[in-house]
Amino acid sequence: MSVGVSVRPFDVARVRADFPILAQKIYGRDLVFLDSAASAQKPRAVIAAMTEAMERQYANVHRGIYWLSERATEAYENARDAAARLLKAYDRSEIVFTRNSTEAINLVAHSYGRGVLRPGQAVVISEMEHHANIVPWQMLRDAHGIDLRVAPITDSGEIDLVSLARLLEDGRVGLVALTHMSNVLGTCTPARRLAALAHAHGAKLLLDGSQAIVHRIVDVQEIDCDFYVFTGHKLYGPTGIGVLWARHELLEQMPPFLGGGDMISSVSFARSEWAAVPHKFEAGTPPIVEAIGLATAIAYVEALGYEAIAAHETTLVDHALSRLSSIPGLRIFGHAQDRGGVVSFALEGAHSHDIATLLDRQGIAVRAGHHCAEPLMQRLGVESTARASFGLYTTKDEIDALAEGIDRVREFFA
Ligand code: ALA
Repeated sequence: MSVGVSVRPFDVARVRADFPILAQKIYGRDLVFLDSAASAQKPRAVIAAMTEAMERQYANVHRGIYWLSERATEAYENARDAAARLLKAYDRSEIVFTRNSTEAINLVAHSYGRGVLRPGQAVVISEMEHHANIVPWQMLRDAHGIDLRVAPITDSGEIDLVSLARLLEDGRVGLVALTHMSNVLGTCTPARRLAALAHAHGAKLLLDGSQAIVHRIVDVQEIDCDFYVFTGHKLYGPTGIGVLWARHELLEQMPPFLGGGDMISSVSFARSEWAAVPHKFEAGTPPIVEAIGLATAIAYVEALGYEAIAAHETTLVDHALSRLSSIPGLRIFGHAQDRGGVVSFALEGAHSHDIATLLDRQGIAVRAGHHCAEPLMQRLGVESTARASFGLYTTKDEIDALAEGIDRVREFFA
């Protein structure tokens, strides 16, 4: 498939040309978009693939015995192959399409949580989880008598592995559910060690890869995790589509999450039989066009190459840490050894919302708030932070613009 990538080695100017939105001016200034961790911009190839799907090969999938429906079904199932290839999954049967990472985690909490975990067992999360990896487990705790344990993080923003091991010691933990990369601190967690630790204590490991998948190669077989989730819109794909990968045998064990059309093999008023894995988890008309967009986004990222992407990101993070840490009164949150392209910060005397608003007036988009991680804010002793996050298209000049923009914010508050 041609995905409109013309670059290798990484040429950020050429990459930027693939993203039409970046050519815009905001308040008459060049847009400096530093909020890719919330949602990334879309390359022309993704936009074109989705348009073409709707213009030329759109019909419902798995239902029609006619040419258009067969083409749409093939494209939808090919997208499953793309996700399987991205994660190095065993095969496409291990890929379940959901609406986003949140829905994927809810699927596991609801299905594996209620159908396989037993009351009295425990789930372990960490202090730096996104609400999407906290709230579904609280709901499971309250409905199903599951104990919810929280692994602390160190002051540098890494999972405290000694404490995590202690939480696992009694052998009651059925599932460890952790972020693969924090959306606030940028910390990348040691996935293989976490899997080994969980398994040594009889627990499964779920990794929330919403941020990590954007920045690094993920090989679920090498990591040896049991569940992996990510979302399309942070990976330069569309909103409305996420992925749950799980080992085939776990998906077999798990009851369906939602009931309806397409997830059954037969229905009568007395009983229904489920479709084979993964279809038994995809009730109703699925996100067809979104799956096609996601497959194109995956191909786009693969064509650029994760090694080149990671090298570009390391340059950006190093530059950002060095520029921002020299700004008086600025505090950076998280100093993990292994980190990705997310930098959260606070400025003495300025609320994060004011920082973001004043930066916005300079054409610089950053996120401010609790970043859907209120417990982490409590751990850090703040109400909120400002956060700059980087994508394929981010440049060192944009980071310089951010540093200069923050200086202007400081002057304003001085
Ligand atoms: N989880 C997304 C973020 O970190 C929305 O901004």
